[in-house]
Amino acid sequence: MLRGTAGAAGAPLLARAQKLLHLVRVRGARRTVRAVVEGYLFAFRRWYIFYRPIPPHPPPPPSSEFECRLATAADIESFAVFEPNRHRREFREWLAGGAFLFAAFANGRPVAFQCFGHSLPTGPPLSRLTLAPGQVWAVDVQTLPEFQRHHVAATLRAYRDCVLAERGYREYVSSVQDDNLPALIYAYGGRQRLVARVELLRWVCVLGFRRMRLETDARARLERYLTEGPRRRLGFRR
Ligand SMILES: CC(C)(COP(=O)(O)OP(=O)(O)OC[C@H]1O[C@@H](n2cnc3c(N)ncnc32)[C@H](O)[C@@H]1OP(=O)(O)O)[C@@H](O)C(=O)NCCC(=O)NCCS
Repeated sequence: MLRGTAGAAGAPLLARAQKLLHLVRVRGARRTVRAVVEGYLFAFRRWYIFYRPIPPHPPPPPSSEFECRLATAADIESFAVFEPNRHRREFREWLAGGAFLFAAFANGRPVAFQCFGHSLPTGPPLSRLTLAPGQVWAVDVQTLPEFQRHHVAATLRAYRDCVLAERGYREYVSSVQDDNLPALIYAYGGRQRLVARVELLRWVCVLGFRRMRLETDARARLERYLTEGPRRRLGFRR
């Protein structure tokens, strides 16, 4: 769901500067600059927004060589394996903010994480979405490249379904950029079609002129893209 666009426009300058400095410290300068450029100066991007119900009585996760559990502050040093994509400072901040940090471990070493929280990103355009009671926001999911396509993410997803269903949550809300094909297929659930609803958020920003459009039923578009688009795209690249 989309919220009005007045948002942060009235926020005092000092508060915004403080928020920016905080982001630089937690995320690093390169990613913060990119987010500011895309949010306020120049961007032409599209995200698919997925709404995936959490089954009230999910089946237990499949048996696997990976140990799945909620990570704690004591694990965070070992999360250095996810840098530079995600810094240990970010994981600490997520935990401090009450997020659920699910992780899969192989021989005691983290190989994947999936973080879900109660707040949306702070910058536009995703900050304009809203969360209803019972919904959780997918902050990020990642599997280390050498462990990808080993069903780690799928196993972790089944594990978190059990944990979050037990805690009374009813739906995941996540965003995936339209050029991230593996994540689109994973989030959509392939033939299983795990999601109940798919939206498409278009964001254009040119030197402060911003336009955001939300297509509220983008399932057919995504299905077309997943079947025809990638083939064309891959064919073009070869
Ligand atoms: C998306 C991501 C988390 C998937 O993790 P993973 O552990 O490799 O996923 P799994 O092996 O559990 O795959 C589950 C299903 O997702 C789909 N999938 C995952 N990776 C895929 C790929 N590269 N190409 C096509 N389908 C893929 C498949 O349907 C797969 O089931 P299948 O293997 O039975 O066909 C992983 O590719 C990743 O970390 N990407 C980089 C970070 C990222 O883009 N995160 C998302 C931010 S929105």
